[in-house]
Amino acid sequence: MTYVVVEGCIACKYTDCVEVCPVDCFYEGENMLVIHPEECIDCGVCEPECPVDAIKPDTAPGVGPWLALNAELAQVWPNIREKTVPLPDHEIWAARPRKLDALSRNPAAPR
Ligand code: SF4
Ligand code: F3S
Repeated sequence: MTYVVVEGCIACKYTDCVEVCPVDCFYEGENMLVIHPEECIDCGVCEPECPVDAIKPDTAPGVGPWLALNAELAQVWPNIREKTVPLPDHEIWAARPRKLDALSRNPAAPR
């Protein structure tokens, strides 16, 4: 089992989740984070930290495609270990239930 970042993260990227992960298994794209499913130890502490409820256990309904996306993009995006500022229009995007079309597959820009 693993935890998975789902649609709610897209274009918000609050990054509260990375602060609490004991194994630093979050990876950062331009406008979303993902969890590396083979590094996650299923502790669950990140799940309540996300302000938009964008972290789910892989047993939750509908999570399958997001698990595949997390597994794929964790291979190519850089690791993120520290909280940073959310994306500029996060409040607008937080209210949108469907935003897969807005996902960028680009890695986060180096800091
Ligand atoms: Fe990290 Fe635990 Fe969340 Fe997995 S469940 S991503 S190990 S904080
Ligand atoms: Fe994304 Fe929520 Fe973490 S918006 S960056 S999963 S705190």
